[in-house]
Amino acid sequence: MKKKILVLTGSPRKGGNSDMLADAFIAGAKSAGHEAYKFETAFMDLHGCNACNTCWSTDTACSQKDDFNKLEPLVESCDAVVFAAPLYWFAFPAQLKNVIDRFYAYGGTGGPRPMTIKESVLLFCSHGTDEQGYAPIVKIYEMSANYLGWKNRGVLTVNGVGKPGEIQKTDALEKAGQMGRDL
Ligand SMILES: Cc1cc2nc3c(=O)[nH]c(=O)nc-3n(C[C@H](O)[C@H](O)[C@H](O)COP(=O)(O)O)c2cc1C
Repeated sequence: MKKKILVLTGSPRKGGNSDMLADAFIAGAKSAGHEAYKFETAFMDLHGCNACNTCWSTDTACSQKDDFNKLEPLVESCDAVVFAAPLYWFAFPAQLKNVIDRFYAYGGTGGPRPMTIKESVLLFCSHGTDEQGYAPIVKIYEMSANYLGWKNRGVLTVNGVGKPGEIQKTDALEKAGQMGRDL
């Protein structure tokens, strides 16, 4: 089945390691006939959730007026979401976390409307070499996916990449492409 995929990136480094992961995944997904939409959170005006509990009280999911409004149509039409980002302090980069917090309008107690998203993928890279560094974020991702009713379609974590482009020395781009083809 042809799918519509939302790829949320989190790095401010265009062409950096996680950006390459995202692009490899997208290339794989497109080669399998899927549609993919890359949304680069680091270059957007995205605020956190205000906990105002006014979700859906206007003509949009969130009452705030910022670039989340551009994302809403994709959240309400895509079949799958991919999080592609660098590990920042064992967690999501802040801009990407702001998007996840704003999903409150759909899946938190503020959300009266369901998302169309039913599947998810995590693609992360980091400089460290201890796989345990990913333990917190993988747990958060798995619990969030479970909470939102998403089927986890794969986690790819890449260690030991710091400078932009270092990911090319690993097999991660091939793996990300395969994950895109397999979705
Ligand atoms: C603010 C910040 C926090 C970071 N935190 C971590 C971390 O907790 N663990 C780690 O191994 N690397 C950490 N890194 C390194 C990045 O994850 C690593 O350089 C990654 O390859 C950057 O990916 P990018 O090219 O997609 O931006 C951090 C980098 C920055 C700028």
